[in-house]
Amino acid sequence: MGYAFTLDDVAFLRSADGAEALRACSGLELTERSMVRDVAAAREIAGARAPAVLETLLLRRKAAGKLVGADHWLFSDDALQQATPTAVARHRAARLTGRDVHDVTCSIGADLVELQRTAARCLGSDIDVVRLAMARHNVPAAGLVQADALRPVSRGTVIVADPARRDRRGRRRWKPEDFVPPLDALVQAYAKCDLVVKCAPGIAPEAVPWADEREVVSLDGQVREACLWRGTVATARRRATVLRSDGTAWTVTDDEPDECPVGEPGEWIVDPDGAVVRAGLVRQYAARHGLWQLDEHIAYLTGNRPPPGTRAFRVREFGRYRERDLRLTLRRLAVGRVEILVRGLDVDPNELRPRLKLGGENEATVVLTRIGRTPMAFVCQAHRIP
Ligand SMILES: C[S@@+](CC[C@H](N)C(=O)[O-])C[C@H]1O[C@@H](n2cnc3c(N)ncnc32)[C@H](O)[C@@H]1O
Repeated sequence: MGYAFTLDDVAFLRSADGAEALRACSGLELTERSMVRDVAAAREIAGARAPAVLETLLLRRKAAGKLVGADHWLFSDDALQQATPTAVARHRAARLTGRDVHDVTCSIGADLVELQRTAARCLGSDIDVVRLAMARHNVPAAGLVQADALRPVSRGTVIVADPARRDRRGRRRWKPEDFVPPLDALVQAYAKCDLVVKCAPGIAPEAVPWADEREVVSLDGQVREACLWRGTVATARRRATVLRSDGTAWTVTDDEPDECPVGEPGEWIVDPDGAVVRAGLVRQYAARHGLWQLDEHIAYLTGNRPPPGTRAFRVREFGRYRERDLRLTLRRLAVGRVEILVRGLDVDPNELRPRLKLGGENEATVVLTRIGRTPMAFVCQAHRIP
């Protein structure tokens, strides 16, 4: 939950006194061990505003890996958790270059700060006045107003929305009513606008029939979001976008050829990025890289040359999967540490691992899957492909 900032807290943190308090407290250790001492020191400096100062400093440290340039930003814990990572926001903003854009759920401005760099004109709004006050500090160049996203206040703009998700931990499938504001109401409110809606990757495509394009975005191998595009901003029906913090990016869409045979295992197993799998673009990705499928219903690919920039698995041995046989193979290969990847079989790697009774100085990746109805085990060596 974190500290509940008030408008007065934000006004203080933005004032000269607040800036001085933040500077004076910035050298505090802020660890569990030092907290009693830090709170006493912060009280001396900032009096009743000490909690707001300490929380801000802690959140700035936490934000460092997620938001570029946020070392002077204001946020609450929730707002930081909900904030779009810079690399993802930057990618979305690049697609909207030169357009007039209105971010109708701008929060503290993690998307907005990137949008205002690329858009011709850029407006941000949110229903929450405290977050809006923080956004005024974080993104001073953007126009900002308090507004309910369900009551349009701009005209002729591309609408960008990132509705909050209700707390539904562990849910893979999301429904339109799980969002705040609800997706259906949002889409109705902007019936005639170009629309870009960020939502959970698990949103069922049939729940959002209005979306012209469904883009699944991953960052550093983790699927982060589905982004739904409607109107002139949509450029494919399905797209996977794979981003890395080092700035590299690639994308695959359903416009590409999808000729992808099913065949015998090659020298390598390739596990496509989660964005490719969730966007339903495994065949297009395979066709682009000259790979083929082991089974038409399974996302693992195989081939003799893995795509550059991926982590791929060189096959050492493979055969029908039986737990006992796998245990004997790993013992013969002196495998003491194993990564277990599973698709299409009901095997829990964490339960299987201790039963394999591993021992030895070697490492291996075991890929468990099925070809047709046959359960298969591939004992592989993982490689980072340059
Ligand atoms: C997930 S956050 C947006 C995060 C933002 N894109 C960022 O990267 O910082 C969702 C925001 O929607 C706002 N919100 C919820 N209901 C709203 C409504 N009816 N109108 C406007 N904003 C609303 C919340 O206050 C919250 O700030």
